[in-house]
Amino acid sequence: MEGASGLANTPGTYDPELERIEIELLLEGVYRRYGFDFRSYAYASLKRRLWKRIYEDGLETITELQHRVLHDADAMERLLLDLSINVSAMFRDPTFFATFREQVVPLLRTYPFFRIWHAGCSTGEEVYSMAILLEEEGLYDRARIYATDINEVVLRRAKSGIYPLDKMQEYTSNYLKAGGTSSFSQYYTAKYDGALFSPSLTRNAVFSQHNLATDHSFGEVNVVLCRNVLIYFDRQLQERVHGLFYNSLSMFGMLALGSKESIKFSKYEDAYDTLSLRDKIYRKVA
Ligand SMILES: C[S@@+](CC[C@H](N)C(=O)[O-])C[C@H]1O[C@@H](n2cnc3c(N)ncnc32)[C@H](O)[C@@H]1O
Repeated sequence: MEGASGLANTPGTYDPELERIEIELLLEGVYRRYGFDFRSYAYASLKRRLWKRIYEDGLETITELQHRVLHDADAMERLLLDLSINVSAMFRDPTFFATFREQVVPLLRTYPFFRIWHAGCSTGEEVYSMAILLEEEGLYDRARIYATDINEVVLRRAKSGIYPLDKMQEYTSNYLKAGGTSSFSQYYTAKYDGALFSPSLTRNAVFSQHNLATDHSFGEVNVVLCRNVLIYFDRQLQERVHGLFYNSLSMFGMLALGSKESIKFSKYEDAYDTLSLRDKIYRKVA
């Protein structure tokens, strides 16, 4: 049957049962061939992204996409970029950083040394934002920062510390709303159309690949930030990741989630006190 787009198959004309079978086979293949486990990602958004890749690669069926990614690592890299939504921003949701300053920083001051884990850090904007905040609070040298993501490509960008110059106006405004106490422009130098952030902001940071769906914890941390990652996972995978964070956090450690995420309805809910309901900051108490 010819679909509206002129392609033989479109999501509208595909038999939903067949579609699910093919998607499951593709995800199983990707997992076994490359170790990337998307089998527990939220189905509707996964499906949309797979079809986007199918159209852009000029293919017609999910099975054709499966063939391509299993035989061609570059095709897999492209698919990985599609499936791992990498949108980020400096001082994203500024009130989160303002609340972190007000409520979490005083707690961190009582620690001689602490570890922060940015899980799903994408291109690193959150890591640089937190580093700036900690510098301004005089706490940076007590911190060890672990910045992880499933995707090596975004981690390379995070390490480079280069962001589009035309974003700086938006980021300056976010920085000020987040309670920035200095001048945002002192943290970067403009180079061509890029803003290169000071490498000293990552002097205590380690960037490494880590898959929340399959990997274990890598030691005890005092703060976990995992913002805008869990929304892409189904409930079962969200629960696994909550278990991972619970086991990684020290007692009285802090967990920060994205604005549309919550610890509510997880079996770990009772193990945390809520520090800020609006900004999704929790403290492990049991
Ligand atoms: C929307 S970004 C969030 C970036 C940043 N935390 C923020 O809030 O701006 C989501 C990130 O989660 C990462 N991600 C998706 N699945 C993952 C997994 N299984 N393990 C680790 N990271 C994952 C993606 O690669 C992407 O970089």
